[in-house]
Amino acid sequence: MTLVVLWFLLVAPMMLVASRPAQDSINGTVPLVMWHGMGDNCCNPLSMGGMKKMIEQEIPGIYVLSLMIGSNIVQDTTNGFFMNVNEQVSLVCSQLARDPHLKGGYNAMGFSQGAQFLRAVAQRCPSPPMKTYISVGGQQQGVYGLPRCPGESSHICDMIRKALNTEAYTDVVQKHLVQAQYWHDPLNDDLYKKHSLFLADINQERVVNETYKKNLQTLDKFVMVKFLHDTVVDPVDSEWFGFLKTGQAKETETLQESILYKEDRLGLAAMDKAGKLIFLATEGDHLQFTREWFNANLLPYLR
Ligand SMILES: *[C@@H]1O[C@H](CO)[C@@H](O)[C@H](O)[C@H]1NC(C)=O
Ligand SMILES: *[C@@H]1O[C@H](CO)[C@@H](O)[C@H](O)[C@H]1NC(C)=O
Repeated sequence: MTLVVLWFLLVAPMMLVASRPAQDSINGTVPLVMWHGMGDNCCNPLSMGGMKKMIEQEIPGIYVLSLMIGSNIVQDTTNGFFMNVNEQVSLVCSQLARDPHLKGGYNAMGFSQGAQFLRAVAQRCPSPPMKTYISVGGQQQGVYGLPRCPGESSHICDMIRKALNTEAYTDVVQKHLVQAQYWHDPLNDDLYKKHSLFLADINQERVVNETYKKNLQTLDKFVMVKFLHDTVVDPVDSEWFGFLKTGQAKETETLQESILYKEDRLGLAAMDKAGKLIFLATEGDHLQFTREWFNANLLPYLR
């Protein structure tokens, strides 16, 4: 979202660069790869660009790559709506594999839809290795509703909402509308499982791909941030890998109550037992957090 970090950059201006032992003398930093959310792009100074700067201040010497999908900012933004997600993921995989800075491994932090896309990178592309994965307001089980999206009154948004409500699982919509690729309709579970090109695949709904399970479990930590007053993600439980129970659209279940976990189809139960799953919650609407909160809760995972 364009609003992403705007608020916290303004409210918590550049101050308080805490003093700490100079890390750059040994440069023991782990590179960071970030993937922006819907309606946003790699480099907006008020969102991802600002985020990158802030992290570079906090961790001197760190290499931060904020992904651009396409060859400029406009393409990057439109691709977040209209480019096949599986193709985006494979583009990113080749980009990461070519980047000499990432050879020794990297941490990854995805914002909103960028979070589930980065999880696909972890599952499909083990080299270079992802170390810690942070999902900031990501929709790990997809969405069933689009209550708000950037440019509420815009054509794009109305069009997307309409397409999702009527024909999310048709071939044409699946291939060309990003949000359809993580649309999860609990009333049409069979359609979802069969036709969801992206989410049903990475969430092992059709088959258990042992490679996905193995690759994900090589993560050191899998951190999920949920926004307690989120008005964009529906249901918000998806940010902690929960979702609506199948067959109805009211009651939700947690990750731990799901079949995915009980049958451990993705290795999440094993990771949970190993203490690798971290569930964080914060007050605030979608992607709204303060620099103070970020520094206290997420920064430690990036050091
Ligand atoms: C620290 O090391 C990383 C990884 O080799 C490199 O990308 C980065 O430029 C280095 N930073 C400094 C300040 O030397
Ligand atoms: C499992 O995932 C790997 C990595 O993406 C892929 O190469 C392979 O084709 C997948 N297997 C199945 C059965 O989908």
